[in-house]
Amino acid sequence: MQATQEHLLVDARHPEQPIGNTVAVYVWQYPIRLFHWGMVLSIAVLSFTGYYIHNPFIIGQVNRPFLMGWFRFVHEAFGMFLIALFLMRLYLFFAGNRWVRWRQYVPLRAEQFREMLEVTKFYLFMRPTAVSKIGHNAMAAFSYVALYAMIVAESVTGLVLYNWLRHSPLLNVLVGWIPRFVSIQNLRLIHYFLMFCFIAFGVLHVHLCMLISREEKRGLMDSIFIGYKVIPREELDEEERRAQEEAAKRA
Ligand code: HEM
Ligand code: HEM
Repeated sequence: MQATQEHLLVDARHPEQPIGNTVAVYVWQYPIRLFHWGMVLSIAVLSFTGYYIHNPFIIGQVNRPFLMGWFRFVHEAFGMFLIALFLMRLYLFFAGNRWVRWRQYVPLRAEQFREMLEVTKFYLFMRPTAVSKIGHNAMAAFSYVALYAMIVAESVTGLVLYNWLRHSPLLNVLVGWIPRFVSIQNLRLIHYFLMFCFIAFGVLHVHLCMLISREEKRGLMDSIFIGYKVIPREELDEEERRAQEEAAKRA
């Protein structure tokens, strides 16, 4: 009787995998998720409107003479929105929970480099299991540092382009000096080129998140919507012990 029930409920090609005594841990706080989805929306809108500014692909503009004006307005508004979101993210590097603070992202400890090597082995099919962490693994975290550097470069070049057209006293001081060192056409080219890097990041990132989510079966994909991940109790206890040790060292 028991055997028949197992046969009915479990797909033999995907057998059950016990993950032990687990707890739901609130890893991604509300502001981080708000930032994530706000950033995804802005990058999508900015890429679409930016590409249109570069190459006005919608025909029939004779009937809508201000179409380009609207695209530029939406682009600049979402550009400012992305900058505001990013400033909030910078604040969270210092004020967020343990898993979103800067120490998790910047690889300064040998242990983080060892972890990156393990993640690389997994991607090269040299290690059968994913590297599971409560927060991000060291490789993912480092890729987010690269993404944030791209956002800074895109925002700076965007603000220079904006200031080129619409002089503002504040932007003159902040970014007005840059075209003296890099010509405006090159800045425009960098701004355009980075768009493709964002798109490439998005594709790879979603693929890797889905792959790891499926391999580790801890609700990684869910977590970016609801904040919770399913974590084995011993792993949480171990992280708690480390956090207390670090707090004791700092005290
Ligand atoms: C992911 C973020 C972004 C993407 C993918 C993006 C993409 C683009 C692209 C493809 C262009 C056309 C460049 C060309 O003419 O070849 C452009 C122009 C421009 N972008 Fe962005 N952009 C982003 C963020 C920003 C930000 C943060 C700002 C700052 C406000 C900004 C301001 C501008 C301005 C002022 C222009 C020039 C508009 C014009 O020539 O009238 N962009 N953007
Ligand atoms: C252009 C689009 C996207 C960009 C630029 C992006 C960027 C990011 C960044 C920067 C983080 C880390 C947040 C932090 O700790 O500061 C992150 C995490 C995450 N994102 Fe995205 N994201 C994009 C689209 C998506 C989409 C469409 C999904 C899901 C369908 C997704 C799922 C996730 C998940 C599950 C995490 C947590 C992953 C981990 O622990 O490493 N992302 N994303």
